[in-house]
Amino acid sequence: MVNNPDEPAHPSGGLLAVRVLAMPADTNPQGDIFGGWLMSQVDIAGSILAVQRAQGRVATVAVHEFRFIKPVYVGDLVSCYAELEREGRTSVRVKVEVYSERERDPSSVKKVASASITYVAVDSESRPRVLPG
Ligand SMILES: CC(C)(COP(=O)(O)OP(=O)(O)OC[C@H]1O[C@@H](n2cnc3c(N)ncnc32)[C@H](O)[C@@H]1OP(=O)(O)O)[C@@H](O)C(=O)NCCC(=O)NCCS
Repeated sequence: MVNNPDEPAHPSGGLLAVRVLAMPADTNPQGDIFGGWLMSQVDIAGSILAVQRAQGRVATVAVHEFRFIKPVYVGDLVSCYAELEREGRTSVRVKVEVYSERERDPSSVKKVASASITYVAVDSESRPRVLPG
């Protein structure tokens, strides 16, 4: 498969927050990997970095952009890289880039999705709290 030159075949940086194998149970009725499953992995990946920065609980408040660039297939190794994009008073915006690898072949790695998500640091009563530091 030829990659789009605009989409780097390897991640430029960020924390490898989630690495998971796409399983048959993650498919839609057509047998393709379900977009909602991928969105869930991306939200988990972004939240791991957000929790690290917030040093505690966070809540997802907004998904600004979610791009499905290429399909993901059963058996693909899916890696989600998370990077801090912006910090506010109580919130952080995290960029997540998703790469997939087929049949354990490193030359097959391609970018399959990207997203930008805002998380709010919350206290024990789920109210926004100021980011530490
Ligand atoms: C997250 C939550 C506590 C925030 O409460 P809120 O009253 O909206 O808080 P605020 O208006 O004070 O905003 C808090 C921060 O979020 C940011 N924010 C709120 N809505 C936003 C949006 N749509 N896009 C980007 N940032 C947003 C604000 O800019 C602010 O950031 P800052 O302090 O860094 O400037 C509340 O919206 C909530 O509980 N939402 C449900 C969260 C949830 O259940 N998520 C999982 C869904 S399954």
